[in-house]
Amino acid sequence: QEDIFKNVVSHAKEYGFIFPSSEVYDGLSAVYDYAQNGVELKKNIREYWWKSMVQMNENIVGLDAAILMHPTTWKASGHVDAFNDPLIDNKDSKKRYRADVLVEDYAEKINQKAQKEIEKARARFGDAFNEEEFVTTNARVIEYLSKYKEILSRLAKGMSDDLQDVKALIEELEIADPETGSRNWTDVKQFNLMFGTKLGASADSAMDLYLRPETAQGIFVNFLNVQKSGRMKVPFGIAQTGKAFRNEIVARQFIFRMREFEQMEMQFFVRPGEEMKWYHHWKEARLNWHLSLGLGKENYRFHDHEKLAHYANAAADIEFNFPFGFKELEGIHSRTDFDLKAHEQYSGRKLQYFDPELNENYVPYVVETSVGLDRMFLAVFATSLQEEALEDGSTRTVLKLPAVLAPTKAAVLPLVKKDGLPEISKKIIEDLKWDFNVAYDEKDAVGRRYRRQDALGTPFCITVDHQTLEDETVTIRHRDTMKQDRVKITELRAIIENEVSM
Ligand code: GAP
Repeated sequence: QEDIFKNVVSHAKEYGFIFPSSEVYDGLSAVYDYAQNGVELKKNIREYWWKSMVQMNENIVGLDAAILMHPTTWKASGHVDAFNDPLIDNKDSKKRYRADVLVEDYAEKINQKAQKEIEKARARFGDAFNEEEFVTTNARVIEYLSKYKEILSRLAKGMSDDLQDVKALIEELEIADPETGSRNWTDVKQFNLMFGTKLGASADSAMDLYLRPETAQGIFVNFLNVQKSGRMKVPFGIAQTGKAFRNEIVARQFIFRMREFEQMEMQFFVRPGEEMKWYHHWKEARLNWHLSLGLGKENYRFHDHEKLAHYANAAADIEFNFPFGFKELEGIHSRTDFDLKAHEQYSGRKLQYFDPELNENYVPYVVETSVGLDRMFLAVFATSLQEEALEDGSTRTVLKLPAVLAPTKAAVLPLVKKDGLPEISKKIIEDLKWDFNVAYDEKDAVGRRYRRQDALGTPFCITVDHQTLEDETVTIRHRDTMKQDRVKITELRAIIENEVSM
């Protein structure tokens, strides 16, 4: 698994998807830049989300609120007082960790041991293997799995509320520093994750601001503006994508946990009392959205929260099977009227909705869906990256991205760099580029060019050869099957459109 993950990171760099930020200065920890192909893939994921949320739902509209907000926003939202992670330092190495992640990683290792035993037995017994029976009778597996479950349930029961509990758990499990092996820890402390900055030039009049740690608050404070100007009727939603910033303690796992990242959030405003109906609606709708990408049903699972944040009366994560195990990809939260009421209280303004059907004013309840764009990128990219054994005994690296998300939809390749083939290729590009991102490549043998496009995730390669000169046909090669068809140039647009449209 570690190897797979390393491969993902190096492929992302080698093929122009993701670079470490400011790499000439050795990078900046947990900050990354999206390169020429990464920016296209990321944009396509964002658009895929936006289309399903805003374009396809008559009662959801978009918003692009500023990153900088009035500082009282974060007082009201609870972020100033409660947006903390429990951190622990290693006294010997001076390395800093998120205490709950240390425990979680430890639990995951135990789970992996159990899975290994199961896989070993499956390989040994073949078709006769009964997993259910095995996990309930094999003493070692029972021990691993029950320990795993116990640790997770203790984690769920208020890890960050009772810091001494966390420390006790780390000691009891004899968890060591993953890098140095030392067990000499400090106490667990709370650490606020917001980045501070200043507004204004002179030192006396400068105002302390924060870079937003979530996009959601920009939606809450605009709720009434949007409702009134858009004549929106409850239930309705406001959707937004944009950067958020968190001074994360654990800075690893590539783009999974970054200090500057992008969220795609939607707040759905509903009648008080109807929030659970909508919470279940959005849980299902969001899972279906993920499944529509075809990355495999088995790679998703729900994690219903036992312990709820101060603002929520129900919450679940959609977890994805990343190269380092199942982790949170998206959160669906029933946030009650906590945020709107808090902004009413701190601003002194009413944030109420007049419901013409009920003939009454109320502060709506909110169901939120919140997915990390970078995490989506990682999920899509890592799952699509495959080493495939071919019939002739060789292997190929292929990035089997959902065609709708691929950075480049087709590459046009002249078989040779002469006889007018480059000119025809460029004419094809001139025609297709109005509708799709298309690339041109004439370097190297055509087989090597195919492999390069496979590695970039390009669904189609169009090859112009000498027959093209005679009958205006080309070959079109499909990335996943590697099958080639001979088609008319005039048919290309429809063939591509059919596969890549949203
Ligand atoms: N408004 C609710 C909210 O912000 P969250 O669970 O803190 O909830 C939502 O974040 C999503 O944002 C997560 O499910 C994850 O996909 C993404 N996310 C959170 N922190 C992140 C980080 N440091 N790096 C990348 N993505 C992150």
